[in-house]
Amino acid sequence: MAKIKTIGLLTSGGDAPGMNAAIRSVTRSAISKGFKVKGIYRGWEGLINNEIKDFTTESVSGIIRQGGTILKSARSERVRTEEGMRQAYDNMTANGIDALVVIGGNGSLRGAMEFANMFDVCCVGLPGTIDNDLYGTDSTIGYDTTVNTIVECVDRIRDTATSHERIFFVEVMGRDAGFLAQNSAIASGAEAAIIPEDTTDNDQLEVFMERGIRKSKKSCIVIVSENKDKGAYYYADRVKKEFPEYDVRVTILGHLQRGGSPSAHDRILASMTGYGAIEAITQGQRNIMVGIRNNELVYVPFSEAIRSDKPMDKKLISVLNVLSI
Ligand code: F6P
Repeated sequence: MAKIKTIGLLTSGGDAPGMNAAIRSVTRSAISKGFKVKGIYRGWEGLINNEIKDFTTESVSGIIRQGGTILKSARSERVRTEEGMRQAYDNMTANGIDALVVIGGNGSLRGAMEFANMFDVCCVGLPGTIDNDLYGTDSTIGYDTTVNTIVECVDRIRDTATSHERIFFVEVMGRDAGFLAQNSAIASGAEAAIIPEDTTDNDQLEVFMERGIRKSKKSCIVIVSENKDKGAYYYADRVKKEFPEYDVRVTILGHLQRGGSPSAHDRILASMTGYGAIEAITQGQRNIMVGIRNNELVYVPFSEAIRSDKPMDKKLISVLNVLSI
């Protein structure tokens, strides 16, 4: 395989706090090892459209504390087609790019895996998503900041919940994973979390009503993981019908939870994994995501990282249940 001289860098999928810290880390780590770096704008879509600029260490000055991504992001439909992939590859080679670093979530890393397999090129991924749903890494870039943002919002909602003695259903993101809901519920002292990982046959609302509010509480907060059929409105409507004595409200946090300056944890995770990505390329690794497990940098094959069943520690469910009575 030809020697890698130039690394292309892109962010793809939903933006996440800490993506800029990752861009900074990859750029500076690469330059320090003698690679050239090219920033690709608007993710895979930008590679297809040839939106590529040379990056220097100055290109990434002052961005470690900024949310979002200076490279912009997109959810590209065209990269799912053979024609789009081929155009992306042609632009990559025309710009002299020998390896790609892709910062993004599940869909973006799946794209990287397919691209790497199709053209036999080096692709390395960084786990950039607020959802924390990538396998093989303890945390993803953006997840910690988002949990903190949710907790800040729930603390405020608590004031109204208590003052008016209401039940609030607060809906948070996470796509198909409940990490944001479960951990923000523990950290905010919420009374319950309704998450997709609870696969018991129990009706989560019924269990919660019996366990919590009906016994001892006049107000409470339930964090609900987004779900197109059974989101916060679904549960609120049921409570209104089944327990009309309660005053119920819904808050959908939406994109409010995805923005903002990254936490120190996310900046460090992004800095470490960005550095790890360049080490991986130097060592001849390819088609892997760089993560951190038990405080150690790890290289996880793309095929494993994108598995859809990242396990949640079931103790988290017990902890919330015990502490919220
Ligand atoms: O994957 C990150 C995420 O924020 C999910 O939690 C959410 O379901 C989705 O992206 C929302 O995507 P968009 O910003 O494209 O509406």
